[in-house]
Amino acid sequence: MDSLEKHHPKHLFDPTRAASLLDPQRRLIADPLEVVKTMGIVSGMRVVELGCGAGFFTHALLEAVGDGGRVVALELQEAMLALLQERLASHPRLEIRLANLLESGLETGGWDAVFVAFTLHEVAVEAALLEIRRILRPGGLLSILDWGYAQGCPEREPGRKAGPPEAERLLPDLLRRQLRESGWRETAYGERMDGCHYWVNAR
Ligand SMILES: C[S@@+](CC[C@H](N)C(=O)[O-])C[C@H]1O[C@@H](n2cnc3c(N)ncnc32)[C@H](O)[C@@H]1O
Repeated sequence: MDSLEKHHPKHLFDPTRAASLLDPQRRLIADPLEVVKTMGIVSGMRVVELGCGAGFFTHALLEAVGDGGRVVALELQEAMLALLQERLASHPRLEIRLANLLESGLETGGWDAVFVAFTLHEVAVEAALLEIRRILRPGGLLSILDWGYAQGCPEREPGRKAGPPEAERLLPDLLRRQLRESGWRETAYGERMDGCHYWVNAR
């Protein structure tokens, strides 16, 4: 891949805005459980959620995997985890882990699925894909949700679209090609709100 066409992460989510990540209206996602189920998270899975932030999707992941499954919610910034800990710290099937997803420290090959929402655009994608490959069991599911083209997004306020500026997004064409070129097989692709959000599954 031409190096000019690689994704260069340009921001890290501001932890003072952690609470905004829990507001379904701001997130444009009324039903996180429906989203994670659509993305292939099913009963009994052992799931790693990378960049869980304040935990907007964590409860939905726990519900989707049910009693036979478990979830590790991993996050780089301690301040982001405070809200998740308040709500779910004592959940018996959840482990909360403060770590860099590029060096997760998680068991090799021990996980059925890796779920990454609105986070991959903040990291070096190639390195992240290597670490994800390491922790997934052979044939395990990588499920990514992120910001697509700004054009499809509603306006937050006049003249300002929801989501990060388009130059800071990891747009679907680039990610899908990067997945292919790193040996992943795309198994599903979908868009929400005219491409404002997209999701990709790969194995
Ligand atoms: C926009 S937030 C999304 C949080 C959550 N996935 C959600 O959808 O509500 C992105 C999160 O990824 C985290 N993050 C960024 N780089 C990371 C890394 N290298 N390792 C772990 N987490 C990271 C940020 O701290 C932030 O909490």
